[in-house]
Amino acid sequence: MCGIVGYVGNRDCTKILLSGLEKLEYRGYDSAGLALIDKNNNIILKKAVGKLENLKKEFIDFNIYCSTGIGHTRWATHGKPSVINAHPHLDSKERFVLVHNGIIENYSEIKEELIQKGHLFHSDTDTEVIVHLFEDKYNGDILEAVKETINIIDGSYAFAIIDKENPDMLIAARHGAPLIAGENENERFVASDVPAILAHTRKIYFLDEMEIVLLKKDSMEFFNFEGKKIEKVHNNINWDPLMAEKSGYDHFMLKEIYEQPKAIRETLFSKLEKDVFNIKDLNLDNIHPDNLRKINMVACGTSYHSCLVGKFVFEKTLRIPVDVDYASEFRYRDPVIDKNSVVILVSQSGETADTLEAMRIAKKRGAYTIAVVNVFGSTMAREADGVIYTVAGPEIGVASTKAFTSQLMTMYCLSAYLSEKMGIAVNTSSVIKTLKTISPMIETVLDNLDIYKEIASKYYKATDFLYLGRGINYPVALEGALKLKEISYIHAEGYPAGEMKHGPIALIENEVPSVFIINKSSLYKKVLSNLQEIRARDGIIISIATQGDENIAKYSDDVIYIPDVDEFYSPLLTVIPTQLIAYFIAKKRGCDIDKPRNLAKSVTVE
Ligand code: M6R
Repeated sequence: MCGIVGYVGNRDCTKILLSGLEKLEYRGYDSAGLALIDKNNNIILKKAVGKLENLKKEFIDFNIYCSTGIGHTRWATHGKPSVINAHPHLDSKERFVLVHNGIIENYSEIKEELIQKGHLFHSDTDTEVIVHLFEDKYNGDILEAVKETINIIDGSYAFAIIDKENPDMLIAARHGAPLIAGENENERFVASDVPAILAHTRKIYFLDEMEIVLLKKDSMEFFNFEGKKIEKVHNNINWDPLMAEKSGYDHFMLKEIYEQPKAIRETLFSKLEKDVFNIKDLNLDNIHPDNLRKINMVACGTSYHSCLVGKFVFEKTLRIPVDVDYASEFRYRDPVIDKNSVVILVSQSGETADTLEAMRIAKKRGAYTIAVVNVFGSTMAREADGVIYTVAGPEIGVASTKAFTSQLMTMYCLSAYLSEKMGIAVNTSSVIKTLKTISPMIETVLDNLDIYKEIASKYYKATDFLYLGRGINYPVALEGALKLKEISYIHAEGYPAGEMKHGPIALIENEVPSVFIINKSSLYKKVLSNLQEIRARDGIIISIATQGDENIAKYSDDVIYIPDVDEFYSPLLTVIPTQLIAYFIAKKRGCDIDKPRNLAKSVTVE
């Protein structure tokens, strides 16, 4: 949560920082702010509540050349969204200015002490203590002051500080929140995430936990928290900056829905070598097949739903039990994990605090951890024993879409790959052949949007929705409900269709739509009976069915057809209509689709 960006160099940096913040806005949009140092070493500080566009208004006629600056986009934790609580924050003498992503857990004790020493605080944030503490510790040596500050603060953070007395310098540190640095000739950058600076450089350094970076326009030095200089190697990022643009779509979410055929195709091809599965970076040699007696899968939100599909996929293919946990539960439930355990952590961002901590717990207990992540170089990717990348490209919309289908594709590939390693008789060439057909099938689902617009017009005023499915499509029902609630603010529940009669059917009345995932499957007749039970109580039925199932129209108010595909692979297709239903309903309700209220793309706080 929260995004930070910083610049030191030869160029006027106001626009560079504002466009960096645009790319980081997915991390929070309660307020935004910029601090710049001008040629006369004055700090120019501007902040605004709400979305970045409000901050941009503050810069309409701004033409002061500034070549050092920091910016912030906020997801409020301590102190409500207001100008006073917006970052950047100044020290008492207004010499240093700071932006921060994370939470300082011992801020109130520190604040008390500093107040005793005469520091004057202005905000309700935890963040403000960092800059005051830094001021207190500063004795002419910026690195020393950072070292002393981080010795005292507890919690998670990535912060960046600039100093009006040393205007060509920026110092930043990381502990528990992501931070990257980038360089070009005569200019250096820091940011929470790659897209923020991708338009300017692809030469990126990923800071590890407990590292500090000192930027000057023509140099960059890294240190550990003891202040010892360390050497770091840069990565060349091959994401195209255009991937992080809307490219003519109304919203990132719609663009990303349309990118799914490509995302799953590229994910699949990245796991193949000469038409045989080969998953690099997995370090599979470290797992003895005998250890694969059970798999634990851990994630949050949409990634959790992809794990629920993964359970079906791994159990069916490998015939070993799979446990799936919410990361926020796993980390506190003393899970039965040891050196024989294989724990798969799934995360688009690779930075979600709960999933990251779950991974660390699993590692501490000796488990072999595999991270399925989308963001290259993310913390999970670097800390896991093995990593598998989904190749979805940057996902900017807060509502996860292409990351989900790419994660599913990864599960199909991984399960087939593991089956080979374990000597289980699975016809992997037939798996590959089928997986290759999915991408064009998704394209046909995306061909015609009229049905979704019609459904949106009919039901956008509904106050409750149900999403129902069974078997491998039950997780898709959960995912469909999550998508609708997070972007349209309509209450929605996903349920196993067979469970309805044990309680939730009491909710059914003639204004409650139920979205049934009723594609061709071994459970088709069972789902149809569940559908009839809802219909008998006057519920509205929207069916997601298989092409050719003319019968279903008789029992449904609306039908969306998907191509005929084996039920085992069907979640890759059935989920697409649920994304589009959510998108068009939210659009019809005038919601801010890419930036839903109270949310942030990457949940880096507990
Ligand atoms: O980056 P991650 O996959 O770890 O994120 C997990 C969830 O925060 C995320 O999937 C969230 O639920 C999305 N907003 C859902 O669309």
